[in-house]
Amino acid sequence: MIPTYGRVLAAACALATTANAVVPIEVKGKDFVNSETGDRFQVLGVDYQPGGTSAVDGKSDPLSERDECLRDAALMQQLGVNTIRIYNLAPELNHDECVSIFNAAGIYMILDVNSPLYPGYIDRTAPWESYNKDYYGQVFGIIEAFKDYPNTLAFFAGNEVINEDSVEEVPQYIRAVQRDMKEYIDKHLDRPIPVGYSAADIRPILEDTLNYFMCEDEDEPMSHADFFGLNSYSWCGDASYKSSGFDVLTEMMTDATIPVFFSEYGCNEVQPRKFTEVQAIYGEEMAQAFSGGLVYEYTQESNDYGLVKLNDNGTISLLVDFENLKEQYAKLDMDRIRASNSSHTDIKPVTCSADLIQNGTFSSNFTLPAKPPGVQKLIDDGYDGVDAGKLVDVESEDIPQTVYNHRGEEVTGVRLNVLAEGASNEPGGSTSGSSGSGSGSDEEDGPNAAGMVTVPVGLATVAATLFALVML
Ligand SMILES: *[C@@H]1O[C@H](CO)[C@@H](O)[C@H](O)[C@H]1NC(C)=O
Ligand SMILES: *[C@@H]1O[C@H](CO)[C@@H](O)[C@H](O)[C@H]1NC(C)=O
Ligand SMILES: *[C@@H]1O[C@H](CO)[C@@H](O)[C@H](O)[C@H]1NC(C)=O
Ligand SMILES: *[C@@H]1O[C@H](CO)[C@@H](O)[C@H](O)[C@H]1NC(C)=O
Repeated sequence: MIPTYGRVLAAACALATTANAVVPIEVKGKDFVNSETGDRFQVLGVDYQPGGTSAVDGKSDPLSERDECLRDAALMQQLGVNTIRIYNLAPELNHDECVSIFNAAGIYMILDVNSPLYPGYIDRTAPWESYNKDYYGQVFGIIEAFKDYPNTLAFFAGNEVINEDSVEEVPQYIRAVQRDMKEYIDKHLDRPIPVGYSAADIRPILEDTLNYFMCEDEDEPMSHADFFGLNSYSWCGDASYKSSGFDVLTEMMTDATIPVFFSEYGCNEVQPRKFTEVQAIYGEEMAQAFSGGLVYEYTQESNDYGLVKLNDNGTISLLVDFENLKEQYAKLDMDRIRASNSSHTDIKPVTCSADLIQNGTFSSNFTLPAKPPGVQKLIDDGYDGVDAGKLVDVESEDIPQTVYNHRGEEVTGVRLNVLAEGASNEPGGSTSGSSGSGSGSDEEDGPNAAGMVTVPVGLATVAATLFALVML
């Protein structure tokens, strides 16, 4: 039996651990919004898959190695991102330290629930064979593992499953996976973490694909997507809004009733990449249709899309693309990006009908496959194959790895800055990123250490909680 003050002290310490948390993001109409302030949230992100798909072995994943996450979160704070997408996760690994580091850095996560390892994916050539109870060990495992972290922004039910090789029933299976995931989330989660699909830019079916996933169907009320991701690489080099075809994409997406964002962008046909598309994507016109995007991709792999290169000797080199993207981000008008717009948030969903999906060569219908045997029971009882992750204590610290800039000069003082309660990372805060000088801020929680937004509810919440504890 602990005396009362001991319990209060223990509780206060526990609070210190979890107090610095980002505010969960929710979907409102066609925008993502901060669930406390109502501010709009646009994705300023990178796709994060160190090692690429070939590194996927189930024994480690991009969120299982603490020191690597510390290094990358510190560098991403300087870059100015607020979101990472992770493709290949193993549900049974412990992700607490990495997720807590990204949370402390003010960075959200969009997670693909699938894995390239059998049975963790839907086979696009025979979806009826892979849509089974074993598949849901991966899918519900990821939901369970990540459901309690405040910086889990969203789940992708599928990535480019519909492509040239897919059979015509594939969209129905993806919509069925969305249905099953959302029923699971509705039963077992404290908040409705959004579920969506990440589409390849296949123009002849793109509009139909969006319409197919976003519309609401009375017969399958849980099956629609909460948001839509588009992987598109049509802006190369010094392209323009028109020459890149981004104007066409904007026109196509502008009537979407759910948030749409680039789940991959960053053509590498012209190198180095200058990322001039950043000004268009977050500019006044495109921001009516898109909620930002994720640059493909953080680490340099054999396909040559990296912002940083992991060297064999354990050091890391920032490529010139890293500096270019950082400069583009720093020019953005964050006040405008964050401004809420009631004509976006009050928008009404569309109802599914056959004429929504008869514009291109898309052939599918809204009759979804029934749940495979055993899946309804998993949804009702919950999946107990993995434990729910939880935040652990994180402190501001220098990273142990050596960092080089693109000229090969050492960059010192790279530091993870733990942001204040409710803050998320934004571009432009950390201005001393050049070689030789300190590039991280030395202040802990200092004003705009990494361009943070402060939400004034934190102290009130802590005070109220402490008061309630004392009343025990
Ligand atoms: C819908 O698609 C399924 C499989 O693709 C097919 O068996 C079924 O006949 C279709 N239903 C309608 C109403 O067209
Ligand atoms: C709000 O959204 C509407 C519809 O997209 C748009 O026409 C209007 O310009 C937006 N307002 C602002 C201030 O961006
Ligand atoms: C590590 O490797 C990089 C890239 O090959 C090289 O530039 C750097 O000098 C090496 N650093 C050390 C400490 O060996
Ligand atoms: C069909 O395509 C045309 C031309 O691309 C477009 O104007 C129209 O809005 C589309 N209709 C639907 C229902 O998607």
